[in-house]
Amino acid sequence: MGILTEDMKRVVREQRLGFVATVCPDGTPNLSPKGTTAVWDDDHLVFADICSPRTVANLRRNPAVEINVVDPAVRKGYRFKGTGRVLTEGPAYEEIRAFYRRGPRAVGDAIYERIHAVVLVTVERALPLVSPAYDGGATEAEIAGAWERYWQALWESRRRG
Ligand SMILES: Cc1cc2nc3c(=O)[nH]c(=O)nc-3n(C[C@H](O)[C@H](O)[C@H](O)COP(=O)(O)O)c2cc1C
Repeated sequence: MGILTEDMKRVVREQRLGFVATVCPDGTPNLSPKGTTAVWDDDHLVFADICSPRTVANLRRNPAVEINVVDPAVRKGYRFKGTGRVLTEGPAYEEIRAFYRRGPRAVGDAIYERIHAVVLVTVERALPLVSPAYDGGATEAEIAGAWERYWQALWESRRRG
């Protein structure tokens, strides 16, 4: 059995968006979203470098990476810490590129053509993230319901302009 549980894989597969933190040469953090974040296998996540020059440069220098994936409705998710390998050629690169070409996480042609590299993340530590909104005893249904109402109102006000 790998480090990624079924629930971790479910959340990543459902949300499709990870916030990826790397370390800059001066030691400061670099954080940016990757909508191509996906489960590769029981121990690995992947994302595609389409326009992420700083993340990729940082990983080439220092492979340390942390990815947060959160379900914004239930206010829960996971944080994945490990090392990221930037791939631009070879069998693993080809296999991951093919994954973004076909299958459930296929991207459109315009995006696919712009994939410069893929990043294979070996997850070494995986921990749950839970909002303090639960501290008062609220259920998932209550929290999700409150956010649904909030987004509904937001979208309606955007539609009205
Ligand atoms: C919702 C969202 C999803 C994104 N997904 C990706 C992605 O999968 N791959 C990518 O290279 N850039 C993606 N981007 C764009 C990068 O986050 C953006 O270009 C960022 O400035 C890159 O910064 P970096 O060079 O520090 O990684 C996404 C942006 C947003 C807002």
